[in-house]
Amino acid sequence: MNNRIELIKDDITTLDVDAIVNAANQTLRGGGGVDGAIHRAAGRELLQACIGLEGCDTGYAKITPGFRLPAKYVIHTVGPVWRDGHHGEPELLRSCYTESLTLATIEKCTSVAFPNISTGVYRFPKEQAAAIAIETVRTYLQEEEFPQKVIFCCFDDENYEIYQELLSDL
Ligand code: APR
Repeated sequence: MNNRIELIKDDITTLDVDAIVNAANQTLRGGGGVDGAIHRAAGRELLQACIGLEGCDTGYAKITPGFRLPAKYVIHTVGPVWRDGHHGEPELLRSCYTESLTLATIEKCTSVAFPNISTGVYRFPKEQAAAIAIETVRTYLQEEEFPQKVIFCCFDDENYEIYQELLSDL
């Protein structure tokens, strides 16, 4: 199982994987953070494809081609904005991972890379988000052959160290 989960610190737009997951907003029309980086790297065709999707609700995911990205697909998911943890934020974040993984299963992706959804602009506490991400992915992979590999792609040291700690305990 653990050989199906990988941890790296990198810019997700550079990864040559089947799918990268985007931490988008409900409009799916781009933004800052990883959303902005992915749209910049993928090119304007990505925005055109996203406009056709007509948005995405929090906790759900939609898929597009990767266009100029090395990745074949972009799975756009909308994470919860952190309020106080008592407005369904943990369940919605879990749903982002399962909904994104389900799309990767449908496309029979061999490799999928996740950023640390909701832990930037949406202010989800990093430790709790990492625990949810790891537990949700592990549970999902026990039931599904695809995706064959899930990569947690951290961008900052803080997230990387949190994931490293949690994954070392498995
Ligand atoms: N590669 C990988 N991870 C990245 C990259 C990158 N190039 N750029 C940023 N990140 C990381 C951030 O460091 C953070 O750990 O992605 C994680 C998610 O942070 P945000 O991008 O701020 O996403 P989120 O907190 O989910 O907020 C989403 O921000 O950009 C807007 O349109 C987006 O409204 C939406 C909101």
